[in-house]
Amino acid sequence: MKAAELFDLSGHVAVVTGAASGLGLAIAQVIAANGGRVAMLDIDEGKLKQAAAAIDEAGGAVETFSVDIAEAGKVESVVDAYAERYGRLDCVFANAGVSGGPGYGKPEGELEAASMELWDACLRVNLDGAFRTIRVAAKHMKPRRQGSIVVTSSVAALHASALPSYGYHAAKAGIAQVVRVAALELGPHNVRVNAIAPGPFRTNIANGRMHTPEGAAAFADTVPLGRLAELDEIKGLALLLASPASTYMTGAIIPIDGGTQA
Ligand SMILES: NC(=O)c1ccc[n+]([C@@H]2O[C@H](COP(=O)([O-])OP(=O)(O)OC[C@H]3O[C@@H](n4cnc5c(N)ncnc54)[C@H](O)[C@@H]3O)[C@@H](O)[C@H]2O)c1
Repeated sequence: MKAAELFDLSGHVAVVTGAASGLGLAIAQVIAANGGRVAMLDIDEGKLKQAAAAIDEAGGAVETFSVDIAEAGKVESVVDAYAERYGRLDCVFANAGVSGGPGYGKPEGELEAASMELWDACLRVNLDGAFRTIRVAAKHMKPRRQGSIVVTSSVAALHASALPSYGYHAAKAGIAQVVRVAALELGPHNVRVNAIAPGPFRTNIANGRMHTPEGAAAFADTVPLGRLAELDEIKGLALLLASPASTYMTGAIIPIDGGTQA
Protein backbone atom coordinates (compact mmCIF):
# COMPACT_ATOMS: atom_id res chain seq x y z
CA MET A 1 0.00 0.00 0.00
CA LYS A 2 1.28 3.45 -0.89
CA ALA A 3 1.88 5.94 1.95
CA ALA A 4 -0.55 8.40 0.36
CA GLU A 5 -3.36 5.85 0.62
CA LEU A 6 -2.45 4.68 4.13
CA PHE A 7 -2.57 8.22 5.49
CA ASP A 8 -5.41 9.54 3.32
CA LEU A 9 -8.14 11.39 5.24
CA SER A 10 -10.35 12.25 2.26
CA GLY A 11 -13.97 12.45 3.36
CA HIS A 12 -13.02 12.19 7.04
CA VAL A 13 -14.69 14.50 9.55
CA ALA A 14 -12.52 15.63 12.45
CA VAL A 15 -12.72 17.78 15.57
CA VAL A 16 -9.71 19.39 17.25
CA THR A 17 -10.00 21.29 20.54
CA GLY A 18 -7.45 23.96 21.42
CA ALA A 19 -6.97 24.45 17.68
CA ALA A 20 -6.16 28.18 17.68
CA SER A 21 -2.57 27.70 18.73
CA GLY A 22 0.32 25.31 19.28
CA LEU A 23 -0.18 21.57 18.95
CA GLY A 24 -3.89 21.81 18.16
CA LEU A 25 -3.24 24.16 15.26
CA ALA A 26 -0.52 21.87 13.87
CA ILE A 27 -2.91 18.90 14.19
CA ALA A 28 -5.71 20.78 12.37
CA GLN A 29 -3.22 21.74 9.63
CA VAL A 30 -2.05 18.19 8.99
CA ILE A 31 -5.58 16.77 8.94
CA ALA A 32 -6.74 19.44 6.48
CA ALA A 33 -3.63 19.00 4.32
CA ASN A 34 -4.42 15.29 3.97
CA GLY A 35 -8.04 15.71 2.91
CA GLY A 36 -9.94 15.84 6.20
CA ARG A 37 -12.63 18.33 7.17
CA VAL A 38 -11.86 19.91 10.54
CA ALA A 39 -13.96 21.63 13.20
CA MET A 40 -11.52 23.86 15.07
CA LEU A 41 -12.65 24.58 18.65
CA ASP A 42 -11.00 27.07 20.98
CA ILE A 43 -11.81 29.54 23.73
CA ASP A 44 -9.79 32.29 21.98
CA GLU A 45 -12.07 33.37 19.13
CA GLY A 46 -9.72 35.96 17.61
CA LYS A 47 -6.76 33.62 17.30
CA LEU A 48 -9.01 30.84 16.12
CA LYS A 49 -10.36 32.88 13.19
CA GLN A 50 -6.83 33.86 12.15
CA ALA A 51 -5.56 30.29 12.37
CA ALA A 52 -8.49 28.94 10.35
CA ALA A 53 -8.17 31.63 7.69
CA ALA A 54 -4.61 30.49 6.92
CA ILE A 55 -5.71 26.85 6.55
CA ASP A 56 -8.68 27.91 4.44
CA GLU A 57 -6.39 29.92 2.13
CA ALA A 58 -4.21 26.85 1.68
CA GLY A 59 -7.31 24.96 0.45
CA GLY A 60 -8.24 23.16 3.69
CA ALA A 61 -11.86 22.57 4.77
CA VAL A 62 -12.13 24.10 8.25
CA GLU A 63 -14.83 25.66 10.41
CA THR A 64 -14.38 27.45 13.72
CA PHE A 65 -16.34 27.23 16.97
CA SER A 66 -15.67 29.46 19.95
CA VAL A 67 -16.06 27.14 22.94
CA ASP A 68 -14.84 26.74 26.50
CA ILE A 69 -14.52 22.95 26.68
CA ALA A 70 -14.81 23.07 30.47
CA GLU A 71 -18.28 24.64 30.37
CA ALA A 72 -21.02 22.07 30.81
CA GLY A 73 -22.80 21.20 27.58
CA LYS A 74 -20.76 23.42 25.23
CA VAL A 75 -18.36 21.03 23.56
CA GLU A 76 -21.17 18.48 23.54
CA SER A 77 -23.58 20.69 21.59
CA VAL A 78 -20.95 21.82 19.06
CA VAL A 79 -19.77 18.27 18.37
CA ASP A 80 -23.37 16.96 18.22
CA ALA A 81 -24.33 19.53 15.58
CA TYR A 82 -21.14 19.06 13.56
CA ALA A 83 -21.31 15.25 13.49
CA GLU A 84 -25.02 15.30 12.66
CA ARG A 85 -24.46 17.78 9.83
CA TYR A 86 -21.93 15.51 8.09
CA GLY A 87 -23.42 12.20 9.24
CA ARG A 88 -20.07 10.93 10.56
CA LEU A 89 -17.25 11.65 12.98
CA ASP A 90 -13.93 9.98 12.21
CA CYS A 91 -11.46 11.50 14.62
CA VAL A 92 -11.55 13.77 17.63
CA PHE A 93 -8.46 15.31 19.20
CA ALA A 94 -9.15 16.28 22.83
CA ASN A 95 -6.17 18.60 22.90
CA ALA A 96 -7.08 21.89 24.62
CA GLY A 97 -5.18 22.42 27.84
CA VAL A 98 -3.68 24.90 30.29
CA SER A 99 -0.59 24.75 32.48
CA GLY A 100 -1.93 25.48 35.97
CA GLY A 101 1.13 27.57 36.87
CA PRO A 102 4.71 26.51 37.63
CA GLY A 103 5.83 23.38 39.44
CA TYR A 104 7.79 23.19 42.68
CA GLY A 105 10.89 24.41 40.82
CA LYS A 106 9.50 27.90 41.53
CA PRO A 107 8.52 28.96 45.09
CA GLU A 108 4.90 29.64 44.06
CA GLY A 109 4.60 26.09 42.78
CA GLU A 110 5.67 24.39 46.02
CA LEU A 111 3.10 22.25 47.85
CA GLU A 112 2.21 24.79 50.52
CA ALA A 113 2.16 27.77 48.16
CA ALA A 114 0.42 26.26 45.13
CA SER A 115 -2.83 28.06 44.33
CA MET A 116 -5.99 26.00 44.69
CA GLU A 117 -7.61 28.29 42.13
CA LEU A 118 -5.01 27.30 39.54
CA TRP A 119 -5.37 23.66 40.59
CA ASP A 120 -9.14 23.85 39.98
CA ALA A 121 -8.76 25.69 36.67
CA CYS A 122 -6.22 23.14 35.45
CA LEU A 123 -8.37 20.14 36.35
CA ARG A 124 -11.49 21.74 34.88
CA VAL A 125 -9.90 22.07 31.45
CA ASN A 126 -7.32 19.27 31.26
CA LEU A 127 -9.39 16.58 32.96
CA ASP A 128 -13.10 17.55 32.96
CA GLY A 129 -12.99 19.26 29.55
CA ALA A 130 -11.06 16.42 27.93
CA PHE A 131 -13.46 13.89 29.51
CA ARG A 132 -16.45 15.77 28.09
CA THR A 133 -14.79 15.75 24.66
CA ILE A 134 -14.09 12.00 24.81
CA ARG A 135 -17.69 11.26 25.85
CA VAL A 136 -19.35 13.15 23.04
CA ALA A 137 -16.89 11.68 20.52
CA ALA A 138 -17.75 8.15 21.66
CA LYS A 139 -21.47 8.84 21.35
CA HIS A 140 -21.13 9.57 17.63
CA MET A 141 -18.49 6.95 16.79
CA LYS A 142 -20.02 3.89 18.45
CA PRO A 143 -23.08 3.54 16.20
CA ARG A 144 -20.91 3.71 13.06
CA ARG A 145 -18.35 1.27 14.56
CA GLN A 146 -15.54 3.55 13.48
CA GLY A 147 -13.46 6.32 14.96
CA SER A 148 -10.26 7.45 16.59
CA ILE A 149 -10.14 9.54 19.75
CA VAL A 150 -6.77 11.09 20.58
CA VAL A 151 -6.10 12.89 23.84
CA THR A 152 -3.14 15.19 24.39
CA SER A 153 -1.77 14.01 27.72
CA SER A 154 1.88 14.78 28.57
CA VAL A 155 5.15 13.25 29.70
CA ALA A 156 3.99 14.67 33.05
CA ALA A 157 1.63 11.67 33.13
CA LEU A 158 4.61 9.32 32.83
CA HIS A 159 7.22 10.85 35.13
CA ALA A 160 7.39 13.55 37.80
CA SER A 161 9.31 16.80 37.39
CA ALA A 162 9.83 20.17 39.08
CA LEU A 163 8.63 22.12 36.04
CA PRO A 164 4.86 21.60 35.55
CA SER A 165 2.43 22.21 38.40
CA TYR A 166 0.97 19.61 40.73
CA GLY A 167 -2.43 20.13 39.10
CA TYR A 168 -0.98 19.58 35.63
CA HIS A 169 0.67 16.31 36.68
CA ALA A 170 -2.58 15.14 38.28
CA ALA A 171 -4.80 16.07 35.35
CA LYS A 172 -2.53 14.62 32.66
CA ALA A 173 -2.05 11.35 34.58
CA GLY A 174 -5.79 11.21 35.25
CA ILE A 175 -6.76 11.67 31.63
CA ALA A 176 -4.20 9.07 30.53
CA GLN A 177 -5.95 6.56 32.77
CA VAL A 178 -9.34 7.62 31.36
CA VAL A 179 -7.91 6.88 27.90
CA ARG A 180 -6.99 3.34 28.93
CA VAL A 181 -10.42 2.64 30.44
CA ALA A 182 -12.25 4.14 27.45
CA ALA A 183 -10.11 2.02 25.10
CA LEU A 184 -11.36 -1.09 26.93
CA GLU A 185 -14.98 0.02 26.84
CA LEU A 186 -14.95 1.16 23.22
CA GLY A 187 -12.75 -1.58 21.75
CA PRO A 188 -15.72 -3.90 21.09
CA HIS A 189 -17.33 -1.01 19.19
CA ASN A 190 -14.23 -0.61 16.99
CA VAL A 191 -13.59 2.88 18.39
CA ARG A 192 -9.95 3.50 19.25
CA VAL A 193 -8.73 5.72 22.07
CA ASN A 194 -5.09 6.74 22.44
CA ALA A 195 -3.12 9.52 24.08
CA ILE A 196 -0.06 11.35 22.93
CA ALA A 197 2.39 12.33 25.66
CA PRO A 198 4.43 15.26 24.37
CA GLY A 199 7.65 16.46 25.89
CA PRO A 200 8.41 20.17 25.62
CA PHE A 201 7.08 21.73 22.40
CA ARG A 202 7.60 25.39 21.60
CA THR A 203 3.99 26.59 22.05
CA ASN A 204 2.20 29.40 23.87
CA ILE A 205 1.39 27.30 26.93
CA ALA A 206 2.32 28.60 30.39
CA ASN A 207 2.09 32.28 29.38
CA GLY A 208 4.69 31.80 26.66
CA ARG A 209 7.32 30.34 29.06
CA MET A 210 8.63 28.14 26.19
CA HIS A 211 9.46 31.27 24.17
CA THR A 212 11.75 32.79 26.83
CA PRO A 213 15.45 31.78 26.78
CA GLU A 214 15.36 30.65 30.45
CA GLY A 215 12.08 28.73 30.03
CA ALA A 216 13.26 27.04 26.84
CA ALA A 217 16.61 26.11 28.43
CA ALA A 218 14.98 24.69 31.58
CA PHE A 219 12.86 22.34 29.48
CA ALA A 220 15.52 21.56 26.84
CA ASP A 221 17.92 20.45 29.62
CA THR A 222 15.53 17.59 30.46
CA VAL A 223 15.58 16.19 26.90
CA PRO A 224 18.20 13.78 25.47
CA LEU A 225 17.84 15.43 22.04
CA GLY A 226 18.81 18.66 23.84
CA ARG A 227 16.18 20.96 22.37
CA LEU A 228 12.50 21.82 22.38
CA ALA A 229 10.31 20.32 19.69
CA GLU A 230 8.91 22.51 16.91
CA LEU A 231 5.20 22.41 16.07
CA ASP A 232 5.59 20.50 12.81
CA GLU A 233 7.10 17.61 14.76
CA ILE A 234 3.68 16.60 16.15
CA LYS A 235 2.19 16.17 12.68
CA GLY A 236 3.48 12.67 11.85
CA LEU A 237 2.08 11.12 15.03
CA ALA A 238 -1.20 13.02 14.75
CA LEU A 239 -1.69 11.87 11.15
CA LEU A 240 -0.81 8.29 12.07
CA LEU A 241 -3.46 8.21 14.81
CA ALA A 242 -6.12 9.92 12.69
CA SER A 243 -5.60 7.71 9.66
CA PRO A 244 -6.15 4.10 8.54
CA ALA A 245 -2.44 3.56 9.26
CA SER A 246 -3.21 2.96 12.95
CA THR A 247 -6.33 0.78 12.92
CA TYR A 248 -4.83 -1.76 15.39
CA MET A 249 -3.62 0.84 17.89
CA THR A 250 -5.71 1.55 20.96
CA GLY A 251 -5.20 2.14 24.67
CA ALA A 252 -1.68 3.47 24.14
CA ILE A 253 -0.03 6.47 25.77
CA ILE A 254 2.57 7.41 23.19
CA PRO A 255 5.53 9.59 24.17
CA ILE A 256 6.80 12.12 21.64
CA ASP A 257 9.43 13.63 23.80
CA GLY A 258 12.95 13.72 22.40
CA GLY A 259 13.87 10.71 24.52
CA THR A 260 12.90 11.76 28.04
CA GLN A 261 11.28 8.38 28.74
CA ALA A 262 14.57 6.62 27.99
N1 LIG B 1 3.75 22.51 24.72
C1 LIG B 1 4.15 21.49 25.43
O1 LIG B 1 5.33 21.39 25.74
C2 LIG B 1 3.19 20.44 25.87
C3 LIG B 1 3.71 19.27 26.46
C4 LIG B 1 2.82 18.27 26.86
C5 LIG B 1 1.47 18.44 26.68
N2 LIG B 1 1.00 19.60 26.13
C6 LIG B 1 -0.44 19.73 25.97
O2 LIG B 1 -0.72 20.07 24.63
C7 LIG B 1 -2.02 20.65 24.55
C8 LIG B 1 -1.96 21.88 23.68
O3 LIG B 1 -1.21 22.89 24.34
P1 LIG B 1 -0.09 23.74 23.60
O4 LIG B 1 1.20 23.40 24.20
O5 LIG B 1 -0.28 23.66 22.15
O6 LIG B 1 -0.43 25.19 24.18
P2 LIG B 1 -1.13 26.48 23.53
O7 LIG B 1 -1.38 27.38 24.68
O8 LIG B 1 -0.30 26.98 22.39
O9 LIG B 1 -2.49 25.92 22.97
C9 LIG B 1 -3.56 25.56 23.81
C10 LIG B 1 -4.85 26.03 23.17
O10 LIG B 1 -5.94 25.58 24.00
C11 LIG B 1 -6.86 26.65 24.10
N3 LIG B 1 -7.66 26.49 25.33
C12 LIG B 1 -7.26 26.66 26.61
N4 LIG B 1 -8.27 26.46 27.45
C13 LIG B 1 -9.36 26.16 26.70
C14 LIG B 1 -10.70 25.87 26.99
N5 LIG B 1 -11.16 25.87 28.25
N6 LIG B 1 -11.55 25.61 25.97
C15 LIG B 1 -11.11 25.64 24.70
N7 LIG B 1 -9.85 25.92 24.35
C16 LIG B 1 -8.97 26.17 25.34
C17 LIG B 1 -6.01 27.91 24.14
O11 LIG B 1 -6.75 29.07 23.82
C18 LIG B 1 -4.94 27.56 23.11
O12 LIG B 1 -5.31 27.99 21.81
C19 LIG B 1 -2.42 20.93 26.00
O13 LIG B 1 -3.32 19.93 26.44
C20 LIG B 1 -1.11 20.83 26.75
O14 LIG B 1 -1.29 20.51 28.08
C21 LIG B 1 1.83 20.58 25.72
